[in-house]
Amino acid sequence: MDRRLVLEFVRVTEAAAIACSHLIGRGDRESADARAVAAMRAAFDRVPVRGTVVIGEGERDEAPMLFIGEKVGPTNSELPEVDIAVDPLEGTNLCAEGGPGALAVLAVSSKGHLLNAPDTYMEKIAAGPEGIGVVSLRKSPTENVRALAEVKGRRISDLTVVVLERERHAKLVDELRSAGARVHLITDGDVAPAISTCLPDSGIDMVYGTGGAPEGVLAAAALHCLGGFFEGRLAFRNAEERQRAIAMGMEDPDRLLALSELVRGEVIFCATGVTSGPLLKGVRRIGDRLHLQSLAMRSSTGTVRWVDSSVHLERLSM
Ligand code: FBP
Repeated sequence: MDRRLVLEFVRVTEAAAIACSHLIGRGDRESADARAVAAMRAAFDRVPVRGTVVIGEGERDEAPMLFIGEKVGPTNSELPEVDIAVDPLEGTNLCAEGGPGALAVLAVSSKGHLLNAPDTYMEKIAAGPEGIGVVSLRKSPTENVRALAEVKGRRISDLTVVVLERERHAKLVDELRSAGARVHLITDGDVAPAISTCLPDSGIDMVYGTGGAPEGVLAAAALHCLGGFFEGRLAFRNAEERQRAIAMGMEDPDRLLALSELVRGEVIFCATGVTSGPLLKGVRRIGDRLHLQSLAMRSSTGTVRWVDSSVHLERLSM
């Protein structure tokens, strides 16, 4: 993929972030999400690729835009074909409630290099590069924190593990704490902390537990760019979701998925902050301008760019 596309895709996450930023803290999650989706969908038409959404807002019958299988981008057969994973508003509740860390996010790969997964749940574990060959969903949480502490040359009590605050994680949290690790509970948004495991000064060592499968693929794409560790296993809510995964080409939908099975080859990952959080600053209005911060990465070079933009409110063309 042409490296100039990186900035084009930043414009797409910026458009989604700007669109939903008007609804930060307004308590209206549906409208915030709808605005981000519509803005992202429209922005894709200005990017010179022929994209297929493989991870999106749900199935065709349940999402009006950015549904799985939707074609985006100009209709020009000479443009490169790419697969796209999107979450126009990752952390819908965070945006609606004005909480920290909502993002607009996407990942793009060359055709066939992102897992086509149904909109279900995923058991996940994410860590920095030290986690490769060391931690795994095959091991117990106790074994994982012990192994990660050892390879990082730290005490278990100095490790911070981020877990979504959900009933289903009660046992996991108990075990991590009994093993001596610090557990950082978050209300929503497990993509940003997964990225943070690769940023040495983030203070986050691991993300553990079950969350959205689309967010799992997006996190894997980011960690692919950063050289980090990610492993997942789809966690279906019902037989229909499992059947859908089989129909999408997964021979054994229950098996453990290594990062390389979720995403491979050349990938571009972009995220723009909607509300300010530990990873990115959110959309801020200062005078007649909106200030934005984005993260843009390319797996082929491993380049990580922090992009600060300021756009003139009156001249916004979106
Ligand atoms: P949305 O932006 O789609 O609301 O997802 C937010 C999120 O917290 C994800 O980061 C996480 O993977 C998932 O929801 C967890 O799902 P649930 O809230 O159903 O436990």
